[in-house]
Amino acid sequence: MVFAAHCQRCHGENVDGRGPDVSPEAPCHDFHAFDKRFAVTLHRGAPKAWFAKIRDGHGPTIEYPSGPSSAMPPFGQTLSNEQIWLVITYLQSLDMYVPEPTPAGA
Ligand code: HEC
Repeated sequence: MVFAAHCQRCHGENVDGRGPDVSPEAPCHDFHAFDKRFAVTLHRGAPKAWFAKIRDGHGPTIEYPSGPSSAMPPFGQTLSNEQIWLVITYLQSLDMYVPEPTPAGA
């Protein structure tokens, strides 16, 4: 699975942005957060923006255990376009597993 092999060390086993390699200088997003949910991200054109960030990298240069790279390292050399789209589809699918917020007073 692309996510487990390449993304989990930073974005975390639960995709909450708490993997072991995360630098405090460059926190990752929690992909379960409301503003990352499918309808919202689709509305803002996020899938295309995510594709560019995954392929080309994003953010300031950080010193990682594996050496310096942009905070979100580029994967254009490692993954095919199809694999990048697959992992985006996976991230979007998480939306289905986000529990409904508990109503106030419940
Ligand atoms: C070395 C740590 C690291 C690895 C490995 C990594 N990321 Fe990231 N990622 C980050 C950080 C840090 C950010 C936030 C950077 C920024 O935008 O300033 C980020 C940002 C992102 C974003 C943009 C989120 C948004 O809302 O703008 C996406 C999408 C993403 N990563 C997907 C992936 C995928 C898919 C993989 C695996 C192929 C992966 N990342 C691997 C550290 C990592």
